[in-house]
Formats: sequence, C-alpha cells, structure tokens
Amino acid sequence: MSDVVGYELEGRVAVLTIDNPPVNALGIAVREGLVTQIDRAGADNSADAIVILGAGRTFPAGADIREFDQPTREPHLIAVVDHLDTVKKPVVAAIHGTALGGGLELTLGCHFRVAAPGARMGTPEVNLGIFPGAAGTQRLPRVAGLDHALELIVLGKPIGAAIAKDYGIVDAIIEGDLRAGAVAFAEKIVADGAPRAISSEPRNGVGSPEDHAETIAKYRDLANRRMRGQDSPHQAIDSVIDGLTMPYPDAVAADRKRFETCKNSGQSQALRYAFFAEREVSKIPDIGKDVVPREIASTGVIGAGTMGRGIVISLADSGFPVTVVETSQEAVDNGMVEIAKTYDGMIKRGRIDEAEKDKRLVRITGAVGFAALGAADLVIEAAFEDLDVKKQIFGELDAIAKPGAILATNTSYMDIDAIAAATSRPEDVIGLHYFVPANAMRLLEVVRPEKSAPDAIATGMTLAKKTSKIGVLARVCHGFIANRSRLPLVREATFLVEEGASPAQVDAVLTGLGMPMGPLAVSDLSGLDVSWRMRQSLADEHDPEERYMHLADRMCERGRFGIKAGKGWYSYEDGGSRPMPDPETEAIAMEVAREHGTVRREISDEEIRERCLYAAINEGAKILDEGIAARASDIDVMWLYGFGYPRWRGGIMFTADEIGLDRIYGRVKEFHAEHGKLWAPSPLLARLAEEGSRFTR
Ligand code: CAA
Repeated sequence: MSDVVGYELEGRVAVLTIDNPPVNALGIAVREGLVTQIDRAGADNSADAIVILGAGRTFPAGADIREFDQPTREPHLIAVVDHLDTVKKPVVAAIHGTALGGGLELTLGCHFRVAAPGARMGTPEVNLGIFPGAAGTQRLPRVAGLDHALELIVLGKPIGAAIAKDYGIVDAIIEGDLRAGAVAFAEKIVADGAPRAISSEPRNGVGSPEDHAETIAKYRDLANRRMRGQDSPHQAIDSVIDGLTMPYPDAVAADRKRFETCKNSGQSQALRYAFFAEREVSKIPDIGKDVVPREIASTGVIGAGTMGRGIVISLADSGFPVTVVETSQEAVDNGMVEIAKTYDGMIKRGRIDEAEKDKRLVRITGAVGFAALGAADLVIEAAFEDLDVKKQIFGELDAIAKPGAILATNTSYMDIDAIAAATSRPEDVIGLHYFVPANAMRLLEVVRPEKSAPDAIATGMTLAKKTSKIGVLARVCHGFIANRSRLPLVREATFLVEEGASPAQVDAVLTGLGMPMGPLAVSDLSGLDVSWRMRQSLADEHDPEERYMHLADRMCERGRFGIKAGKGWYSYEDGGSRPMPDPETEAIAMEVAREHGTVRREISDEEIRERCLYAAINEGAKILDEGIAARASDIDVMWLYGFGYPRWRGGIMFTADEIGLDRIYGRVKEFHAEHGKLWAPSPLLARLAEEGSRFTR
C-alpha cells in the first residue's frame, strides 16, 4: 500500500509508522502514504483508534526542504493535516526525536499528542525564510495560546517535551516504550469515550488582535532585534493575526498565498542554501567515512592570553580535561583568574550555576613549561603570531608530545607547512584557527597542511563537532579562507576613507547589508595594531605595485589603536565602546591622501558597497580556484559564522551569484583599471562570468 508509511494492528489500534530516513521528512511519498493509511485505518472495522509515529531516530523533522525547489505536488501537507479533522476515530501522535515544522503541524492535526521524555518540538521555519505553512500559525495558537505559539513560530527555537506539556502541546509524556505507551493511551481514550480534540475548530474567547496588542508588539520587537532584516517572522505574525480575525478556512487560504511568497523569496532561497551549505562542510572529498578520527581524551593549550583562554574554556565546556601552559607561574595564575571571571560572567547571565562552574574549572589545570603536555592527545598552540616563535614551540613540542598526539596551531594566517617542518612528525600537525572569543564563536577553521595525515584532519573536524562548532576545512595560504577573503573588504574600507568617505558612512553601508558591525568599528574593537604588526612582519614581501594601507599605518603611528586606546577610526569617551565620529580621523586621511596623491571626493554608498563586497568576492574566487576552499559554500559558511554575514543573504559567494557574475566581473575589471593590481580579476570569476555560470549550485 505504501513503502514509507507502515500499517500494523496492535490490538484494536492501527499503528502508522513513517519510515523515510534519515529524518522522516514529509516528502510526497510520505504525504500520499499518510492519506492512504489514514483512510485505511478509518475504514478498518478492527481499528478503534490510530497512532502515528516515526521509525528510526525521529518523528518527521519537517517538510522535505529539497522539494521546495521543485513544482509542488498534491496532496500538500496542509491537506493531510486537515484530512485528520475528518477522521472519526481518535488519532494520537507519538513523538520522539525532533518533531519540527511540518512534523509538529502533522501532530497538531492529530487529536492527541504523547511524547518521549527526550523529544523536542518546534517550528524552525523562520530559519528557512518561511513560516509554518501547514496551518501551524492557525492551530498552534489554539492549542498552546497566542504567547507560546508566537514564541515557537517567531523565534524558531525548539522546546523539550516537559515544556511542551506545560504549554498544552503534549497531552502525556510516556516513560519507557513509546509505541506501547501511545497504544495504551489510545485504548484509554477509546475506553473513556473522550471527545476528539480538533485544533481547527472555532476559537472561543481567544480574543482579538487588540486584546493581544502587547504580546504581538513583543514578538515584532524580538523579530526586529534578533532577525534583523528578515521578512518571514513578520509574515508569520501576520498569519497568526489573520487567525484572530478570520474563520479557519479563510485564514488558511491567506496563509497559503503568503507562504508561497515567502518560499519564492530571495531570503528563503539563501537560507535554504545556508542550511545545506552548513551540512556540506563536514564532507571532505578525499577523506571518507572509513577514516577514523583519533581518540582525544586529554588536551593541552599553549598560552593563556585572550585566545588561549577562550580555547581552554571551549574545551572544558565540552567535557575535555585541559592543561594550559604558560612561561611563568604569574602568567598561569593570571590566566586562571581570567578564566574564572569568564565563568562568573556566565553565572551572572544565568547560563550556568556555581556547581557547573566548579565542574568545568576542575577540568582545567595550569602549569609552567611544556613538560606538562606530555600526556595530551591534542595540543593547541595559541602563542604570539611570530613564525620563528611558533617554529621553536613546535620543535620543543615534538620532543615531549606523545606519539600520535595532534599538534595544532591557532595561527590565523601563517605558513603551517613551515611550522610542521619544524617537527619530525608533520603528519600530526594541523591548523585549528579559532575566532575571538573562542569559547563563544561557532566557527573553527581547520587548516590542512601538505603533509598532514587524513585522520589528523578528521580529528580536527570531529573536535569542532564535539565542541559545538562548525568546522570548515581550508588549505594553507596566507590568511587561509576566512581572513584572506575578508582582508580585501577591510582594505577597501580604509582606502575609501582615504579617498573621502567617513568611517561612519562606510560602516553604515555594510551594516545596511545586514552585517552586525561595520568593518572599521570591528577594527577598533579588535585593535588596529594587530594588522599593523602583521603588515610590518610582511614588509619585505610587499609588492610595490600594489596599493598599500598607508592610512591604517598612520592611525597606529598616532596611537589610534581602537577602543583600548580610546580612539581609532572613531573616538570613545570615558572608557566606553560607543563609536563617535572624530574629525582627527578625517584630518589624518587628508594628510595621507595629500602625501600619496589620492584625490579626495564624494563617494556614493553604491561604490562603497561594490568595492567592499566585490573585493571580497574576487578574493573568494581566487581561494576557490586555488583549491584553498573545497567549495564556494565553505567560504560562505565561514562568513556566516565567522563574520556575522546575514544568513538570509547566504554568504558572499551566494550573494555574488544572485547579483550575477557578469556584473561583478565587469565592475572588478573597472576597479582594476582604476585602482591597480590588487583588483586583478580572478580567472575563475572571468571564466564563470563568460559562461553565464555560478559559484554555487
Ligand atoms: N528536508 C530534507 N532533508 C533534511 C531535512 C528536511 N527537513 N532535515 C534534515 N535533512 C537532511 C540533512 O540535509 C542531512 O542530509 P545529509 O546527510 O545528506 O547531509 C540529513 O537529513 C541529516 O540531517 P542533519 O545532519 O542535520 O542531522 P542532525 O541529527 O544533526 O539534525 C535535525 C537533525 C535536527 C532534524 C536537523 O536536520 C534539522 O534541523 N532539520 C531541519 C528541520 C526543519 O527546518 N524543519 C522544517 C522544515 S520546513 C517545513 O516543515 C515547512 C512547513 O511548514 C510544511
């Protein structure tokens, strides 16, 4: 009858099992199967009630997202959900794993819901640029009340079974065997003659939009703050409001139109792309599932500075014992004090309690000297960015680390092949490039040196997962993927200031694209001296034909290191971090422009957008072409998680595709003619533009 929806009788209860691995997505075959088997159960004289559950790891985790790019096929999920209203026998949803999106909506069509204690449920559709399109915006408020429904629908965060029971979404939590418990629940419903709870029935006393004005305003505000620039949370709220003013069928019809508009929007396409891009990153073409990552039972970190401490906390938070080494007892003690302070901050924000802090601190040991790292399975070096220092550290590590230990460097741009060559075991050396603050930032750039062993790389990628990070693989080059592709954006931002734009104008254009902060405000936050030192260390390699960041150097020469100095691109009052325009920056820009013959002029927002974005895209194309990134989407995932690029724009490479590579190539050629060598077009960009092709699929 159906390959993907099984039918069995258990006593007088028909059990319908959805079996569509890996997550029982509600594709066309499942939807057809459900209708067939629901009708069969309805007509089966041996069945008094129906239980619907998922095989394997989960209840359906939603609609099949891959189908969104294809023509829709009937029955739509909404028809399946509405069909359940007509079934005269009680239908019970038995939830385990993650009942998400359409999965939860399917349960809302059922008359009762029971769940395993570990089950999670929610409506994460806003993360895909849509909203619950199978009547979730109508049924969930009726079942859970408007506030709880808006919480789930607008914020898109799943909740656990216990909270779902509090919210009235789940009728009972079943300890032990879910299937047996659900069947027993259904039998009791039949025995009690309990009426079927139909969640599309008219709402009594639920109130009007005016009654709920405060709640609605609260979620509008949350949507604006947490999902800035994104449409679908507001569309979802509009749908819920429709449900307060229209009969169910009319509200559902209005939903349908709104849903289609959202689904076909650029935002939704970008968000769906990001969903799959994020899942692609862990697939490394030449490292298959047969490569077994090495066992990591204990870890070590070299350096208790800002970065080292963040890495220590990230490891300890994920349950790893960590030994952090420094060159003096004083530095160790300072590091431990700062780590404890970070945990105190987490307690203050209600993220952990004292007991949890103690548990995590017990995992951390401070020590002086490398000898303490002899037993570690993984050592991460987070010392000063100086190649000679790093080579020396790795030479010393080589002498004491146990055989097979992974030796990782946290360098953000250096030649890891050269660092690996300082050891007798380059196969064990990898890059683990964390982002500040390392305990909070989700991105981990795993860098693959020439001689690294496949299982060393697999271990780095697994470590990312085990520490709740997104690991993205890069080959070795200056700055790897993340910093190399971002540098041109920052470079253009500073050139634009030299040419006449104000820092505030440049930053406003980029925040206008949806980035959380502009590049110059970010430089002030992280310190202008960091890249100044890097430029100084690379002075010998500078190509005189390439335009140089004289203005950024001059800012540092004048002590304008950013927030920590009270002045950078902006000025800051009384130790605060609120950027204020500073006429001195303009004066310095005019001075540098004069010295280097730069003509100052009025600069349009359009030019700022194009120069900053296209410079990064052109570099991204070079990174892809050189095989530093395995795919364009890996570059995008870096931008989403490393630099706060708006997810609803997909990433810089996806944005490029949406703008059109021919347009970008055309502008890059013009900028090349105008501004010189740094704008040399990527051959890949040129080729794809000429073919009318894309970076991403
Ligand atoms: N459609 C299609 N494929 C899906 C999918 C979906 N809804 N959910 C997951 N998958 C695929 C993933 O792409 C992945 O495929 P590969 O192995 O080929 O990479 C595989 O299933 C396993 O997924 P994860 O790697 O993410 O597994 P996980 O265990 O880490 O997480 C999960 C499982 C929590 C269910 C997670 O996959 C997830 O959040 N999925 C999306 C849930 C969602 O957004 N549901 C709403 C869909 S839209 C909707 O339902 C609209 C509507 O109103 C009708």
